[in-house]
Amino acid sequence: MKEEVRKAIFPLAGHGTRFLPMTKASPKEMLPLVDKPVVQYVVEEAVASGIGEIIMITGRGKRAIEDHFDISYELEDVLMKKGKLALLEEVRKISDLAEIVYTRQKESKGLGHAVLCGRQLIGSEPFAVALGDEVIDGPEPALSQLVSVFHRVNGPVIGVQRVPKADVPFYGIAAGQQLEEGLIRIDSLVEKPSVEDAPSDLAVIGRYVLTADIFEILETQQPGVGGEIQLTDALRTLSGKRPIYAYEVKGHRYDTGDKLGFLKATVQFGLKNPDLGGVFREYLERILSLSDGAEGR
Ligand code: UTP
Repeated sequence: MKEEVRKAIFPLAGHGTRFLPMTKASPKEMLPLVDKPVVQYVVEEAVASGIGEIIMITGRGKRAIEDHFDISYELEDVLMKKGKLALLEEVRKISDLAEIVYTRQKESKGLGHAVLCGRQLIGSEPFAVALGDEVIDGPEPALSQLVSVFHRVNGPVIGVQRVPKADVPFYGIAAGQQLEEGLIRIDSLVEKPSVEDAPSDLAVIGRYVLTADIFEILETQQPGVGGEIQLTDALRTLSGKRPIYAYEVKGHRYDTGDKLGFLKATVQFGLKNPDLGGVFREYLERILSLSDGAEGR
């Protein structure tokens, strides 16, 4: 029988060192793309993929995420009294988006450890993992693509995308036997390899559909690269016990936990915005055409 993927773990407990000092007291997942925090895009992707239960793994300094998805009676009252009904509706929708539970990772021991923190709440069913600082913009939600593949291959699926050779040291890299266009059975998985040692240019992105047997492996997983308990290392061990797969996710991926990635996403989502896109495009064209470097207005 096909087991539905109903739950997702969102590991949100990292320190966000690439985005300091902004991340000193505020979560990077709450950075806005135009007017919505990044993590809301990821929650909406999960919900659009049929995943209605989200387990957020948080840590110190991440309270703003909980407040964002909670009901805000005071704000709703103000909007109601001012007759701002469209905004009221928008704000209410956020707290009704999904069933969200929170658990804390007390120390940032790595992505693998963060996923392990969700074990009790997942139980024995298959589940998705989505990184809350990666936004994937495409015709079909990224998690929905992976869930479809999961049901076809009946095993864990890791989302991957090709990256320039020079970037492989920043990612987990997967390689294996190609089964069909965009789908491989993994036989090699390395976290942050050197350019010379990388088995391919297929980088692990922040989307997975996994099975509960990964938890037993994570339980005894030793720290790897950066002294952190790496999910990639545990998945490599799992690939020795059962077939696991990588699927090339379709869509444009923005790593908003990286300053340049965030700026790119801001520009793209600004240009796509129905209210602001036109004037924003004009503004960008004007400043880019100013040869003396003067600031546009
Ligand atoms: P990253 O390495 O991208 O995030 O981890 P980070 O540690 O927050 O950021 P940098 O690299 O220092 O800038 C991938 C994901 O895993 C989560 C992060 O929140 C991020 O979404 N994570 C990482 C945890 O939840 N716990 C950890 O111990 C480590």
